[in-house]
Amino acid sequence: MRSLRIRQDLPKIMEIERTFPKKNRWLESAFLDRPGMPTVVTCVEPSPMDSQEILGYAVYQPCVESIELLRLVVAKKYRRQGLGRRMLAHFKQRINPQSCPTLSFWVPETNLPAHLFLKACGFKAVSIAHSIGNTNRPDDYVFEYNLFSGMMAA
Ligand SMILES: CC(C)(COP(=O)(O)OP(=O)(O)OC[C@H]1O[C@@H](n2cnc3c(N)ncnc32)[C@H](O)[C@@H]1OP(=O)(O)O)[C@@H](O)C(=O)NCCC(=O)NCCS
Repeated sequence: MRSLRIRQDLPKIMEIERTFPKKNRWLESAFLDRPGMPTVVTCVEPSPMDSQEILGYAVYQPCVESIELLRLVVAKKYRRQGLGRRMLAHFKQRINPQSCPTLSFWVPETNLPAHLFLKACGFKAVSIAHSIGNTNRPDDYVFEYNLFSGMMAA
């Protein structure tokens, strides 16, 4: 994986975003620097055949004791080829038992394929984050991969 190159990568990322139903899409602004907001980092998985092509991408926020994944996407035609697992492996290598042992990911309760994917990659659902105030928004399941838990499979 490599860091996002905004001019080159963002149009391709937006093409992939447009394959999602509107309510699940991220807008361009979510990928750009947001002054005054917490640091958010985007990285991309380029194609080994054509470095201009983006196979997938991840957005995360480094926190004090964890890395919070905010978005992880594999382009539709490249799914079920082990790419998502490989992208998560990149983050697993970055967590540190001493300072930052946990990878976490909030996933809407309606996204069953993502739950199955995370479970297959050794994550565990640890709690439910209820959406407050906005009844149209599903609750999130909070998934964690913790280096200390001893339940990591993948
Ligand atoms: C979730 C997502 C990132 C998975 O990426 P992927 O590259 O297709 O996943 P992998 O090929 O690495 O799958 C690893 C394992 O996860 C499980 N898995 C992945 N997708 C699955 C699905 N749709 N249904 C059931 N199990 C699934 C399988 O056990 C799979 O192993 P297998 O293919 O040998 O059976 C991808 O489907 C995606 O981009 N979805 C839309 C965005 C999204 O929902 N993001 C949230 C991510 S948690």
